[in-house]
Amino acid sequence: MERKEFLNLVGISVGAVILQNCLSGCTKSSDPTPAVTPPPTNPNTGGTGGGGGTTTTVGLTGNNLLANGTISFSIDLNSTTFGDLKTNGKALVSGDVIIARTKAGDFLVVEKACTHQRTTVDFNADNTTFSCSNHGSVFEANGAVKNGPAAVALKNYPTSFDSAKNTLKVG
Ligand code: FES
Repeated sequence: MERKEFLNLVGISVGAVILQNCLSGCTKSSDPTPAVTPPPTNPNTGGTGGGGGTTTTVGLTGNNLLANGTISFSIDLNSTTFGDLKTNGKALVSGDVIIARTKAGDFLVVEKACTHQRTTVDFNADNTTFSCSNHGSVFEANGAVKNGPAAVALKNYPTSFDSAKNTLKVG
């Protein structure tokens, strides 16, 4: 093999390798359908990131998200999602509200976001209040401000409980 023939052969081989690498690399980077990572699921709404639909939540019918309009829903306490509320003194967050059952067995539903800077409030069964761990605001059972810095009450929602069906209607 002469030197010229050898160089031509090597040149073609190197070119082929470079072309193959470029094509495979280009195919991956310009793929028009990149993998889609599903958004996290909010177990309390069955939707995504708190903005999803409420109709798929096991045990809940209606709307528990302010972004979807008026808060109005029913929950089934026989469902695993809301079963904790069969116990007096328990509470859980669902959508944009916190649902609490007092030690006496009454239900309280208020917006979950502290009116100071939107931290989710906690229910205190011992004194039937809601408190915010961020700056210490405390709200009465009906959402009224007990201690600041929050200056605006939590919105509360009327409830009615059907003990025969073990369902709670809110709103
Ligand atoms: S966010 Fe609740 S007291 Fe500040």
